[in-house]
Amino acid sequence: MRPAHKVEGMTDQPQSPEDDIPGKPTAASRTTLSHIMTGSDTNLLGTVHGGVIMKLVDDAAGAVAGRHSGGPAVTASMDEMVFLEPVRVGDLVHVKAQVNWTGRSSMEVGVRVLAERWNESTPATQVGSAYLVFAAVDADGKPRRVPPVVPETERDRRRYQEAQIRRTHRLARRRAIKELRDKRAAEGLDTEV
Ligand SMILES: CC(C)(COP(=O)(O)OP(=O)(O)OC[C@H]1O[C@@H](n2cnc3c(N)ncnc32)[C@H](O)[C@@H]1OP(=O)(O)O)[C@@H](O)C(=O)NCCC(=O)NCCS
Repeated sequence: MRPAHKVEGMTDQPQSPEDDIPGKPTAASRTTLSHIMTGSDTNLLGTVHGGVIMKLVDDAAGAVAGRHSGGPAVTASMDEMVFLEPVRVGDLVHVKAQVNWTGRSSMEVGVRVLAERWNESTPATQVGSAYLVFAAVDADGKPRRVPPVVPETERDRRRYQEAQIRRTHRLARRRAIKELRDKRAAEGLDTEV
């Protein structure tokens, strides 16, 4: 029986009866992490170090993945991290994260980074974005099943469909690189460790 939450055009979710675990709406795990940037967050240019932002992104995405999957989840990959504007000391940074897509044990988490001056009432502007894949794991670190995410708004449905495109490309890229490496190894090339 098809799960009640199955949405047209969303094809990559578990379908067999034993996989039929209840879905969770996107909003149930959506999270914002906010942090004021200080002097200890800067790079040699005096603006905020990209790695500081990446840690906040990973932290927020990890919280979302843990909340959605109901347990531990580890970062499997981070891609399309984009820095649109420099972040400065005294910026209040908001990292907004949500589950865009779920597979059997993995989740794509989409993150938007916004910044505003900590003591001014001007609107926050978007300074970055990223997509991360998290795998839910059991006590032995082995992948475990996750509830399907149930997108409820048109924006969430668009994000789900875009995440499926990224998933297809990630798998294709991984497969193509593995095939090339296997071929070169079979030819006796690339023997160094
Ligand atoms: C992520 C990890 C659990 C995957 O384990 P694995 O034995 O390769 O298991 P699988 O191949 O079944 O992958 C599990 C899921 O993750 C996805 N996945 C694994 N590696 C991925 C990658 N590099 N990019 C995107 N998705 C990935 C798989 O597609 C699969 O998704 P699905 O179940 O929804 O179809 C394992 O590689 C790991 O523990 N990595 C270290 C994670 C970590 O410690 N992160 C913090 C860094 S300090």
